Amino acid sequence: MLLKGKNVIITGAGRGLGKAIAIACAKEGANLGLISRTMGELLNTKKEIEDVGTDIKVIIQTADVSNFQEVSEVLLTFHDELGLFNGVIANAGYSRMWATHEFINEKFAEILNVNVLGVFHTFKAAYPYMKKDDKKDKARFIITGSEAYPNAPPRLTAYVASKFAVVGMQKAMAAEYKRENINFTMVLPTQIDTSLLRGKKAGDGNKPEHVLNPWDLNDYYLFLLSEKANRVDNGLIFTDDFQEVKKILAEAPSEKRENWEAFKDYFEEKAPKSYENVKNLGKLVDFIIARS
Ligand SMILES: NC(=O)c1ccc[n+]([C@@H]2O[C@H](COP(=O)([O-])OP(=O)(O)OC[C@H]3O[C@@H](n4cnc5c(N)ncnc54)[C@H](OP(=O)(O)O)[C@@H]3O)[C@@H](O)[C@H]2O)c1
Repeated sequence: MLLKGKNVIITGAGRGLGKAIAIACAKEGANLGLISRTMGELLNTKKEIEDVGTDIKVIIQTADVSNFQEVSEVLLTFHDELGLFNGVIANAGYSRMWATHEFINEKFAEILNVNVLGVFHTFKAAYPYMKKDDKKDKARFIITGSEAYPNAPPRLTAYVASKFAVVGMQKAMAAEYKRENINFTMVLPTQIDTSLLRGKKAGDGNKPEHVLNPWDLNDYYLFLLSEKANRVDNGLIFTDDFQEVKKILAEAPSEKRENWEAFKDYFEEKAPKSYENVKNLGKLVDFIIARS
């Protein structure tokens, strides 16, 4: 098991992406501390994990990530129950869509509070409990960003601002904590079939083809949490590029599919733009190949 005995904290784990990541981590043997504001949804996540039947600890607690006090109290409880954290995933997020000149002021602020301050609060509250004593197995702080960086779709100004902001935060923190054993990375998804994108229709089986399922992203998070990514710091995983990797891998001649070294020139020729974002993450391509 990839994460046996590791302690992983995930915000926004009641549904959508965070729930899928939690189940994937549980299957790989991680103990979990899960946060959202809705206890009923956290209970569902916990039940689905128990149905998988792994022998791990799952602690669920409600907190609003835009409230530092609440996040601190919950992370203290997680530390008391689990011990030091190997990985923390700041995933909780929120969005609303309006023309910028009509955007409701309070909603604009709320989006920034959840998506930007929420990440800051999660890191600040988690930092004392992150396991930073092992150079060969560093602690991981992973932010769920969005393709809104750098694409900046219209009518999503607050969301776009928040997702640009967290890329800056990730880069600044990676530089600031360079001498400590913490890796800072991000997953920047395209559209995913969750309530954030599709409201009540999420999971209805009628998603457009280009929209991914939440679990399609599991490998990216598992890789970043695993020992294989111990030297991956300040890395951005754009899911679009890695979907391209998966597609081209599936069509590639067998000798090109053995590993990144064998695949990279072929991939560069087929998808030169994606290659630029993938070339420093060859270990993730190897991980995808090994798990396929
Ligand atoms: N879906 C997409 O197309 C897409 C694309 C790119 C990036 N993303 C990013 O993926 C991440 C997860 O989103 P999702 O698509 O899985 O959305 P989702 O299905 O709406 O899930 C969001 C999760 O975050 C929690 N949450 C929201 N506000 C919170 C707060 N203030 N405090 C604590 N928890 C909070 C929600 O629970 P409660 O409401 O109960 O608190 C829920 O568990 C977000 O960062 C989002 O920006 C999503």
